[in-house]
Amino acid sequence: MTSTDSAQTPAKAPAKDPWDLPDVSGYVVGVLGGTGPQGKGLAHRLARAGQKVIIGSRAAERARAAAQELGHGVEGADNAETARRSDIVIVAVPWEGHGDTLKALRDELAGKLVVDCVNPLGFDKKGAYALKPEEGSAAEQAAALLPDSRVAAAFHHLSAVLLQDPGTERIDTDVMVLGEERADVEIVQALAGRIPGMRGVFAGRLRNAHQVESLVANLISVNRRYKAHAGLRVTDV
Ligand SMILES: NC(=O)c1ccc[n+]([C@@H]2O[C@H](COP(=O)([O-])OP(=O)(O)OC[C@H]3O[C@@H](n4cnc5c(N)ncnc54)[C@H](OP(=O)(O)O)[C@@H]3O)[C@@H](O)[C@H]2O)c1
Repeated sequence: MTSTDSAQTPAKAPAKDPWDLPDVSGYVVGVLGGTGPQGKGLAHRLARAGQKVIIGSRAAERARAAAQELGHGVEGADNAETARRSDIVIVAVPWEGHGDTLKALRDELAGKLVVDCVNPLGFDKKGAYALKPEEGSAAEQAAALLPDSRVAAAFHHLSAVLLQDPGTERIDTDVMVLGEERADVEIVQALAGRIPGMRGVFAGRLRNAHQVESLVANLISVNRRYKAHAGLRVTDV
């Protein structure tokens, strides 16, 4: 290449290191439905890692009681106040209450990064099975109901038992993170990475959230057979 060529063709920026993740330590994390095992477990892990966490509930009193139990500076509030005061809002309510909860909080969640970890599942005598939401997945339902929020999906495959167990120091697992905007996905990857043993891995756009949510039915089968709290590792990355 001549010097003239290089003047005409701008040098290509070096590819960004996918593991170069932002510092998320200053963000306030809210957890809707944070009084349940999953929300409380995530709140416990994140607060223990130094994150400011607010637990949400339909009843502020229940949230405050759960927060007090957790310590580590965790606060409790009703779901609306939790959403308003947080930068990142994790949705940890049951699938049955997912749509109505988000619809009611559309204003409070505007401009926030909403992280859905809801797994739409059914249970019968054969065990757990995946439900197919009309929108494709819980995460896509969230995106449809919250046009003014940035929606990502993550934390589907974690064991609430391990999350809540104060004696468990590390949880060795990957967290699949899905979303439309790279910057948002990286924030959630970094958040997952604050928990010792965990790594957030980009796993596609929200249109691929259904498989990730559904895989929990398989993990429940694994856990029942092997009396385990199974997690996932994505190899070769
Ligand atoms: N458990 C796990 O191991 C696990 C793992 C990964 C993902 N998840 C997902 O995380 C979500 C929460 O799981 P969980 O086991 O913690 O569930 P949960 O205990 O059934 O519910 C969590 C909290 O949501 C609130 N809630 C209950 N019904 C509601 C409704 N109809 N509308 C709005 N809020 C309601 C309750 O808090 P208040 O009464 O205080 O409002 C409850 O404590 C689920 O969608 C699940 O798929 C769970």
